[in-house]
Amino acid sequence: MPTPKKLPAQLPTFLTFFAFTLLFTGCNTVTDDQPGQPVMHRQQAFKEILKVFEPMGTMLRTNNYQAEKFLALANELKARRDAPWAHFGPHTNYPPTKAAAAIWQRPGEFEQDRQAFLAATDELVSVAQHKDAATIEPVYKKLYDTCRTCHKTFRAG
Ligand code: HEC
Repeated sequence: MPTPKKLPAQLPTFLTFFAFTLLFTGCNTVTDDQPGQPVMHRQQAFKEILKVFEPMGTMLRTNNYQAEKFLALANELKARRDAPWAHFGPHTNYPPTKAAAAIWQRPGEFEQDRQAFLAATDELVSVAQHKDAATIEPVYKKLYDTCRTCHKTFRAG
């Protein structure tokens, strides 16, 4: 088994600039009281994505890359990536959602951002198989940017 390579110290420290907490935390006091609770389900699905996405970032950031663990997380992310989207049906823009109205106004653009995210998760799984932290790092950042891009336009607050 190849020895996992550590990230060179001079690699970009982008992960320390963009605190996960700023981008991804949400604290809802209102509960979803609509039939089927689509808002609650999609928010939970995103939280499940974050639960596997964040530890990968922590590994890279703290120079603690573990190849097998990272690959398992990348595969798990791929397994969870499809869960939120079916819950963005019509008439599901109500509190406690943080979804922006633009999702329903510009569905094509939302879909483009979603496709970019899906493509980046594929790329991450693929690169994680080569078990080299230095090649994984930019792909992880690319995936991170797809989260950020979509949130900027389609997630309010
Ligand atoms: C195509 C758009 C899109 C992409 C890509 C996307 N998100 Fe989101 N995300 C949203 C929207 C919209 C919401 C708000 C959902 C709501 O409140 O109804 C959201 C909410 C969240 C939440 C908060 C859930 C809550 O309880 O409020 C987390 C965490 C999250 N996303 C993490 C991520 C991560 C991590 C990625 C990338 C690995 C990502 N998202 C990619 C659109 C996206």
